[in-house]
Amino acid sequence: MAAGLRFDGRVVLVTGAGGGLGRAYALAFAERGASVVVNDLGGDFKGYGKSSSAADKVVSEIRANGGKAVPNYDSVEDGEKLVKSALEAFGRIDIVINNAGILRDRSFVRISDEDWDIIHRIHLRGSFLVTRAAWNHMKNQKFGRIIMTSSAAGIYGNFGQANYSAAKLGLLGLSNTIAIEGRKYNIHCNTIAPTAGSRLTQTVMPQDLVDAFKPEYVAPLVLWLCHETCMENGSLFEVGAGWIGKLRWERSLGAIVRGKDQPMTPEAVRDKWEKVCDFNNASKPRSIQESISVLNDALSQIESQGSISMNSTSSGSVVSSAVDTTSLVGRKLTTNVYKYTHLEPILYALGVGMSTKDPDHLKFLFEGSEEFCCLPTFGVIPAQTSMFDAVPSIPGLDMDLAKMLHGEQYLELYKPLPTSGELTSVSTIADLLDKGSGAVLLIDVNTYCGKDLVCYNQFSLFFVGAGGFGGKRTSEKAKVTVNPPNRPPDAVLSDITTADQAALYRLSGDWNPLHLDPSFAALGGFQKPILHGLCTFGFAARNVLKQFANNDVTRFKAIKVRFAKPVYPGQTLQTEMWKKGNRIHFQTKVKETGDIAIAGGYVDLVSALDKPSSLKPTTGLQSDLVFEEIGRRIKEFGHELVRKVNAVLQWDITKDGKTAVQWTIDLKNGSGSVYQGPARSSADTTFTLSDQDFMDMVQQKTDPRKAFFSGKLKVKGNIMLSQKLEKILKDYAKL
Ligand code: NAI
Repeated sequence: MAAGLRFDGRVVLVTGAGGGLGRAYALAFAERGASVVVNDLGGDFKGYGKSSSAADKVVSEIRANGGKAVPNYDSVEDGEKLVKSALEAFGRIDIVINNAGILRDRSFVRISDEDWDIIHRIHLRGSFLVTRAAWNHMKNQKFGRIIMTSSAAGIYGNFGQANYSAAKLGLLGLSNTIAIEGRKYNIHCNTIAPTAGSRLTQTVMPQDLVDAFKPEYVAPLVLWLCHETCMENGSLFEVGAGWIGKLRWERSLGAIVRGKDQPMTPEAVRDKWEKVCDFNNASKPRSIQESISVLNDALSQIESQGSISMNSTSSGSVVSSAVDTTSLVGRKLTTNVYKYTHLEPILYALGVGMSTKDPDHLKFLFEGSEEFCCLPTFGVIPAQTSMFDAVPSIPGLDMDLAKMLHGEQYLELYKPLPTSGELTSVSTIADLLDKGSGAVLLIDVNTYCGKDLVCYNQFSLFFVGAGGFGGKRTSEKAKVTVNPPNRPPDAVLSDITTADQAALYRLSGDWNPLHLDPSFAALGGFQKPILHGLCTFGFAARNVLKQFANNDVTRFKAIKVRFAKPVYPGQTLQTEMWKKGNRIHFQTKVKETGDIAIAGGYVDLVSALDKPSSLKPTTGLQSDLVFEEIGRRIKEFGHELVRKVNAVLQWDITKDGKTAVQWTIDLKNGSGSVYQGPARSSADTTFTLSDQDFMDMVQQKTDPRKAFFSGKLKVKGNIMLSQKLEKILKDYAKL
């Protein structure tokens, strides 16, 4: 018994195994431990007649060698019966070798209907029927290996074999699709085009070749392709005489033969014929997505080229000759208004992996939280809109968006981002660089809330293949990345992105189909849609904020990153961080591959000491007086109030949207007390409202219920205690 690649426990069905190639496969599988169903109808090579002797002979040979085999005499046209034989004899089916075949050679015009049909019925339909009968068994056991037998006659054509060629190449199409459908069930299907001496080839080959091209020189390929350790799937091999080669499709670069808004003519096809057929720099498409992607590419090229410029693509120049690059720099591009409610910051936070699993999540995910705020990196969202709109419309620049990569990003915040409102972003061209292999366009975007500058973004966009226009290589305006210190990181945080991460993140406004549509992703040369670089950026920044700034958004000053490698949704992000003063260096790796997705990143934080404390008592708040007076009264009547109220009430008094002071009225412990600051024991209820609204309530200009329903008064905890507010506050009306 041969060692090495073994098939013990596997059940193999070989069709047409009574002679020639099929017999060689059956013997080889059995020798390596497989249980084999030896199928053969036993007719002649044209498909006439039938007999059990062919199959029986091979079964006897296998058994004589100590192997396991059963015969089956059905035609492959009874596919179910063949698989049933395997199940009855051995209880399962693991491998199907579609090999049975006949010939009805005739020159094309002499092919009868019958000769056409029978060739298709035995080769193509028979392989379909046998494979279909085995499919669900393979699917359920999550293992299957299938071989289709094609022929050089199908691949290249052969005089007198039109019927056979058509059926044989049909088998390749069948295999290609089965390979795709079976992949997720570990069912692999490959196709071989063998050459071997057999009764089929005896009529056309000299005897010495028939003897030299032994079926035994084909069988080892079939065994390898069917082994559980072989991951080959959907491929085509030519094999014979001890030689094996793999085939693939090659496609010329082709040519665009029409202009925008112009008819496509046969004359234009003729004129471009040489280019259509030129295989220099040819591509090798491997999937229908890759195949179609060229069409999308062509469409966008046609659309962007205008009606007559279609011949100018070969120059590769990004800048039209009429435009002086220096005149581009500083050019204002667009002004965009971004209106949003609390929904957008929450959706963004979810998009970059913020979760209710994080103890500090409320302030990013719940608009009712008194600390509700935007993640700092939300600052890219209003700005990106203006960038998307701006780039395609830059006069004098021939930018192909399909070849644009988001290379780097810088964001600086001047104040925490408002949680809702209207932001205006103004974009300008900061610089245009010639990097040889491409052009880098630096776009500065200033974002304002009213007249206040809230944040500044610099987008660094790389246009593949658009360099070489003689521009400068570097710019003093570029914000640059910084390599991390040469020591192990101070902290590492991991996040598993979900399969739908990009689908969720894009709802924040980056609609590029590259992140969702497989055929569009293929156009960019990716195996599948990739995660937005800015999504990974959001994950990384969130981790830095949590690890080094206690999620305090007021400490986040700036961030810079370079997008080095793509991330696929579902992969694990690992952010490594180094603290160096107020700068946190970081890089983000894809844990599964070790690839660095974000390189040279840093976040600049405001030092905790420099940050003005929002909890310091703010002088000049009107409510201070009321709380001081409540304190005095509690000293007198505290006992009675404790009995009536029996609760700890915390007050977060806001000014200009921020908590300016916290007070606690303790009407639960002892004889009650009032003090500044959060509740020392836990508060039963926390009330949040502005200094002015507090005063209106105290002066009974607003009643607490109305304040609550209008959103002026936010209540956390035991909401029923709000009903006691009037009792607590009304006596202070005249203060
Ligand atoms: P072969 O004639 O020795 O083997 C084919 C076997 O299939 C025969 O034993 C025959 O009885 C059986 N068979 C025919 N019709 C059947 C049916 N309806 N149900 C069950 N069994 C049936 O020929 P060979 O050369 O071993 O061919 C095997 C396969 O390889 C065929 O599909 C053939 O087209 C293909 N092929 C062979 C080449 C060669 O150089 N030998 C070249 C290209 C392809």
